[in-house]
Amino acid sequence: MAFACSLALASDPSPLQDFCVAVKDIKDGVFVNGKFCKDPKLAVADDFFFSGLNKAGNTSNPYGLSVTPNPDYRLFSKILNPGDVFVFPMGLIHFQFNIGKSEAVAFGGLSSQNAGVIAIASAVFGSKPATNPDVLAKAFQLDKDVVKYHQSRF
Ligand SMILES: *[C@@H]1O[C@H](CO)[C@@H](O)[C@H](O)[C@H]1NC(C)=O
Repeated sequence: MAFACSLALASDPSPLQDFCVAVKDIKDGVFVNGKFCKDPKLAVADDFFFSGLNKAGNTSNPYGLSVTPNPDYRLFSKILNPGDVFVFPMGLIHFQFNIGKSEAVAFGGLSSQNAGVIAIASAVFGSKPATNPDVLAKAFQLDKDVVKYHQSRF
């Protein structure tokens, strides 16, 4: 009896290590594949445990939500010249803007076969069906008419 099986997997490459428990101070960590991690031999069950998801967070803020921001919304910017390269870490929001007086050509290389590129403005204001303007007004702290104007542009 002949048995044939064909399997195709489409995903990003697996991490190079099983886990990386973050450390607050790099002197407490080991450098593993470009990251400071707790020495894996010292990992304990509590490193993978959190309790409290059943407790409401503090939503007394303009967005009406409670999140632990991570990372810290810092803008990294750099003026590039011919021949320069800039790497955008996977999943990070990024933009390119030509500040020169002539046309510019840029090559983009993505690390995934299925990169899932999303243009943020189109995704937010141009979704089909449209996102409820009340949601966008709250999320972006905009007047609802401003949201409707942006939605009408797509
Ligand atoms: C909730 O957050 C608001 C705004 O930051 C703050 O003034 C208030 O004290 C917080 N309430 C609690 C119970 O932590």
